[in-house]
Amino acid sequence: MCYAKEKDMEIKKVVIPVAGWGTRSLPASKNIPKEMLPVYNKPVIQYVVEEAQASGLTDVVFVTNQNKTIIEDHFDYNLALEDMLKRKGKDEMLAKIREVAEMVNIISVRQKKQLGLGHAVLCAREVVKNDPFCVMVGDDLMFGMEPGIKQLISVAMTEHMPVVGVMEVPSEKVSNYGIIEGEEFAPGMYRVRNLVEKPKVNEAPSRLAIVGRYVLFPDIFYHLEKLTPGHGGEIQLTDGLKGLAGNNRLLAVKIQGQRFDAGDWAEYLTANIYFALHDEVLRDALVPRLKELLPF
Ligand code: G1P
Repeated sequence: MCYAKEKDMEIKKVVIPVAGWGTRSLPASKNIPKEMLPVYNKPVIQYVVEEAQASGLTDVVFVTNQNKTIIEDHFDYNLALEDMLKRKGKDEMLAKIREVAEMVNIISVRQKKQLGLGHAVLCAREVVKNDPFCVMVGDDLMFGMEPGIKQLISVAMTEHMPVVGVMEVPSEKVSNYGIIEGEEFAPGMYRVRNLVEKPKVNEAPSRLAIVGRYVLFPDIFYHLEKLTPGHGGEIQLTDGLKGLAGNNRLLAVKIQGQRFDAGDWAEYLTANIYFALHDEVLRDALVPRLKELLPF
């Protein structure tokens, strides 16, 4: 297979699978996609798209289903709302609302059967074509000096290799993640030898967990299309990555920054407080109330 040469390699597309049921977020996600639940004053998915935009990605490919069209709508104009805000002179909010519609180009692809993350990525094949691309899992919110996915893009561009983002997790949490086995060749950078999707604690090769950020090349599709259902009866992206690792063609990078798993209630609520505390006005109102609730 032939890819764009390193000098003209530019990554513009990001695949964001959003067709999952969101069972961890029920009953809140019964009729609202889990990606649209707010963290402070924005839906979860907006933080993910902002990270993509801040990393130079311009084309967002949502792998979606028939119940999730409001995700695409969120990144489109809402002319009636804009008109009302204009009439009422709410210019600041008007600018904010419009900014969301102008952030990125939106392409959507249907995942007609929810067969797993690997299957979702495979659904984007015809859009991705022959270009390297990113995958961002919508549940993972990441904040730091440098956007999470950007940290991977720079390594993928210099090494010309697929890269997954990892973070160290406590051993009792390894069974929630894809876990890598790798050799550290520079601080925080690993050559991946093998991966296991959601291993039992005593079978995990390390505590380095994939945190929903990937830079891939089109050869991943070759591995994904050959897969049979893996963990949980699903076509796992982790199993596709195993094919790359077997060919010595996968790196992992420890992402620097703060991460929240929006599908976990404790983390979701912490993320809300984290952002609220960054808003100076809200912080002054919130801190005394939190102190009342936490009298120790
Ligand atoms: C998916 C991947 C898993 C990865 C995780 C990161 O799992 O299958 O390898 O570690 O995302 O959030 P999910 O959370 O969709 O079950």
